[in-house]
Amino acid sequence: MQASVTPHAELRPETPDRLLAVRALTEALAAPLSDADATVQSMPDASPAKWHLAHTSWFFETFVLRDVPRYRTFDPAFSYLFNSYYEAEGPRHARVHRGLITRPSLERVLAYREHVTEALADAWPALSPAARELVELGCQHEEQHQELLLTDALKPAMWERGRAPPLSLATSAWIEGRSGLVDIGHAPPGFAFDCETPRHAVYLAPHALASRLVSNADWDAFIADGGYREPRHWLSDGWAWVQREGIEAPLYWDAEGSQFGLDGLRPRDPAAPVTHISLFEADAYASWAGARLPTEAEWESAAAALDPATGQFLDGPGAVRPHGHGLFGATRPHEPIRPSAQTCSPGSAPSAAPSPHAGSTIAAGPSCSSRSPR
Ligand SMILES: [Fe+2]
Repeated sequence: MQASVTPHAELRPETPDRLLAVRALTEALAAPLSDADATVQSMPDASPAKWHLAHTSWFFETFVLRDVPRYRTFDPAFSYLFNSYYEAEGPRHARVHRGLITRPSLERVLAYREHVTEALADAWPALSPAARELVELGCQHEEQHQELLLTDALKPAMWERGRAPPLSLATSAWIEGRSGLVDIGHAPPGFAFDCETPRHAVYLAPHALASRLVSNADWDAFIADGGYREPRHWLSDGWAWVQREGIEAPLYWDAEGSQFGLDGLRPRDPAAPVTHISLFEADAYASWAGARLPTEAEWESAAAALDPATGQFLDGPGAVRPHGHGLFGATRPHEPIRPSAQTCSPGSAPSAAPSPHAGSTIAAGPSCSSRSPR
């Protein structure tokens, strides 16, 4: 099994290199899993690793290979098992019961993958431009499932603990975003999902974005200041969730200062970006910090100014860990790296730093109107 792949490298369009790289990375991500690991389903909304492995192959088989002369369907029963929600492709196994698919085995699913990958590679020279676009769609789809495969993984560590050099915590500053009429959405050429088009104009009120992500140290301060015990920071449903579930910290944090990840339990790095928080928690933090969450349009407008080719990608198997900078490009002092969960309210003057005290006089923005009664 290939363990080092480069799906984002410059690949020649006249060859199926990108396809082969994407397929190999999916298999490398699943390599640490046993048949049992790959079969269980962590929750009704998640899918077993085996299902991700098979479904991404079903996609290519259904939308590309069935139009290839002399292609032999691997197993007709797989269409029922591994169709996700494509109504036109017939009935399918319910998602909530995907964890009951004990057969085919992981070994047979991997054989299915090999069958499909080889058929695509063999067919590649004769594929029409339209069919190659479908292959690209299949690659983008499979990359989405790579992300799901990692987020759906169960608690046992998938990889040995890797070396994680401590990060340094940069001072956060406010960076003014573009305002007025701004174009967002996909600008051809290049791949885009249908929900990313058409390109259109939106109006952005004056705002500013924090220059770095919210860190574990920032979150410790939120907790120490009673962030999880103060209803005025929370949306009504969020506060109900905190009360009902007894939420006191991000998922996978423990009281001893450790955090679970794909490489097991390890000490939390204060400078690392906080992870595994819900929208309710992010919104409450922003409220506590005297700010609000950025809108999608504000966020996209800032991200579009960066070079996506130098961002942080899933280029190989192993424990995935955001490093807090370079998500969209290398660290550049006077440009936004990635907007964090902090944005000044429209019309408010940005403060020098996103501290709860400096920002406490900023009026709540429109998104804060439905918070719990104070
Ligand atoms: Fe899918």
